[in-house]
Amino acid sequence: MRNIVLIGFMGTGKSTVGKRLAQSLAWDFVDTDCEIGEVTNLSVTEIFRRHGETRFRSEERIVVARLSQQEQIVIATGGGTVLNPLNWEALAQNGIVIALHASLEAIISRIGHKTDRPLLKGSKEAIEKLWSERQECYAQADFTVDTTEKNIDEVVNEILARLGRRNNNEFSGVAKD
Ligand code: S3P
Repeated sequence: MRNIVLIGFMGTGKSTVGKRLAQSLAWDFVDTDCEIGEVTNLSVTEIFRRHGETRFRSEERIVVARLSQQEQIVIATGGGTVLNPLNWEALAQNGIVIALHASLEAIISRIGHKTDRPLLKGSKEAIEKLWSERQECYAQADFTVDTTEKNIDEVVNEILARLGRRNNNEFSGVAKD
């Protein structure tokens, strides 16, 4: 079994779901933003503030290249990670790519008040534009799970069902979109 890669917009639940999914499979969980934080010793906000988005994206590229070489890990990506085709290619080559979706309203109510996402600082219109622009990219995933009205367990169970997990932790085959 290859890696499981979660993609999707900020606030769709990639990290929370990823952790629970990894637990359920007894696999390791890795979050690209956390890895970038460890490598640079800076939070995402600090990297953006001190060095700008370009530096963040280049750190992200290096982290993705490294993680893509591993096996049987659940990877939660940042919302912008797969916009770089090189990241997409590396992650997809060695993993099943699952998009988590949520309505814009759900995203704003989940994370609109938080301050740790530099790209969410704009107006609601700016966030909506970013969200809309990215939908086409996320839709290229092997399959998409809509998290808008679901709790974490429901999302994890849906993913496991679509992966075709059997009791012995083997997979009978992915039900792609
Ligand atoms: C980003 C999403 C963030 C983080 C950075 C940029 C984006 O990750 O990587 O702030 O471009 O959408 P989350 O999706 O985990 O919030």
